[in-house]
Amino acid sequence: MLELDDIQGLVFSGYARQRCARYWFLKLPVVGATGWLSRLLSRVTTSERRERASDRRVNVALTVSGLEALGLSEAALLTFPQAFLRGMAAPERSSLLGDQGENAPEHWQFGGTPAGRVDALVVAYAETADALDELSDALEDDFERFGCTAHVEDAYLAEDLRDHLGFLDVRSNPRVRGGPRKRHKNPYDPGVPAGEFVLGYRNASGHFAASPRAPLRASTRLMPRRTDATRALDLGRNGTFVALRKLALDVPAFWRFAGRAALELWPQAGSHGAERFAETLVGRRRDGAALAATDALVGGPFDARAANRFGYRRTGDGAGCPIGAHVRRANPRDSLGDDPAESLASVQNHRLIRRGRLYGPRFDPAAPVAAERGLLFVALCADLERQFEFVHETWLNHPHFGGLTHERDPIAGAPPAADTTDDTFSIQGAPFRRQVRLERCVRVRGGAYFFMPGLRALAYLAEG
Ligand code: HEM
Repeated sequence: MLELDDIQGLVFSGYARQRCARYWFLKLPVVGATGWLSRLLSRVTTSERRERASDRRVNVALTVSGLEALGLSEAALLTFPQAFLRGMAAPERSSLLGDQGENAPEHWQFGGTPAGRVDALVVAYAETADALDELSDALEDDFERFGCTAHVEDAYLAEDLRDHLGFLDVRSNPRVRGGPRKRHKNPYDPGVPAGEFVLGYRNASGHFAASPRAPLRASTRLMPRRTDATRALDLGRNGTFVALRKLALDVPAFWRFAGRAALELWPQAGSHGAERFAETLVGRRRDGAALAATDALVGGPFDARAANRFGYRRTGDGAGCPIGAHVRRANPRDSLGDDPAESLASVQNHRLIRRGRLYGPRFDPAAPVAAERGLLFVALCADLERQFEFVHETWLNHPHFGGLTHERDPIAGAPPAADTTDDTFSIQGAPFRRQVRLERCVRVRGGAYFFMPGLRALAYLAEG
């Protein structure tokens, strides 16, 4: 049984009713960080059902420097996994995420350099902008009182649930086995064990992910002991790792590129060509229907229940959905290797719970506003390396994914190295394969790896 009252709320809910959100990327004070965390603790929302009645949500996560600021010992810190200890901006992490050139951490607004250090992430959600402001005032009073400084980002879910390119956010997240939300059975998503996302439970391989430990203290009797001989406390239990990336999307540049590409590919398509091309890059129609499930680019009305009941095997050659399309690379479902069942099983080791939100104003071509806009991408997982980093390195950024060559994910993939021009996108199928040269419209503006502890672990950390 999942200990829902100890697991932070964001793990099992995207807070769809709380459309307005604010994220604080905090630097904690040298003295007093534990006092701040004790104050915050009573506001943190859990995954328990009764909390869903409240209209406000607060969650918190910490980086390695944040855990240090809270006084966690070196020995305890070293029980955290390497990717987390090194952080998203470490050179070897950048290299496998593809954060080079203008996407390199040295250019980031936060998280990329010592000056942009982030110790903690506090996220607040509310149903209205006024309620969010009220909640923010209370949180910010405490930041000030304890000497925390912050980089702040506002984020939201749009009323129409569309993203900046007009795609419906169908929130194709994994079906978590044993999770609090009942989801319909789906032959294309056999269900992922909770241990893939929350530490302390069995994962898809039947194992427990490595979980950080902390020394025993008299006052923390409520925390679970490790079953091994160390008598240490299981600090990781009910926690999850968070990969956050601020991804700026140049929407006008994207539509200019899509218009040019569509004209080259389908000169007869007229004004709908750019839209059709965008759908081809993503692998879904803008109304949410999967290209792989519709046979043609234009099909029937969107059916939410059917949104994820599809695989790629039927259109294995990419005729329905291009092999390199964003959703197909990000979750290849049944399409890897020769055996669809084996493919579905192996893909379950690399799933992510996505909790991203938009930032910046929506783009209106009739009244264009020059502003930065994009996605505050948030992924939750139990193992940053095997899940978040693997998806980037082996699927999104791999030039030979699915037998392709010289291609990367057309939306979220890394741009090619400066000395090459290899960045194409292939549209397989009738009557022959077509290729276009990609233009990159997404830029990484910030990011960090966090640990989002369970409530008892937060209480332990707040004791210092
Ligand atoms: C600005 C950048 C990005 C844009 C515009 C974007 C857009 C989209 C869209 C429109 C969908 C389909 C709708 C949905 O499933 O909710 C989607 C799905 C998805 N995206 Fe992204 N995305 C971006 C970055 C990323 C990154 C960095 C990752 C890294 C792992 C990622 C992973 C996924 C996954 C796993 C899915 C679900 C695929 C499935 O289960 O079928 N996306 N994205």
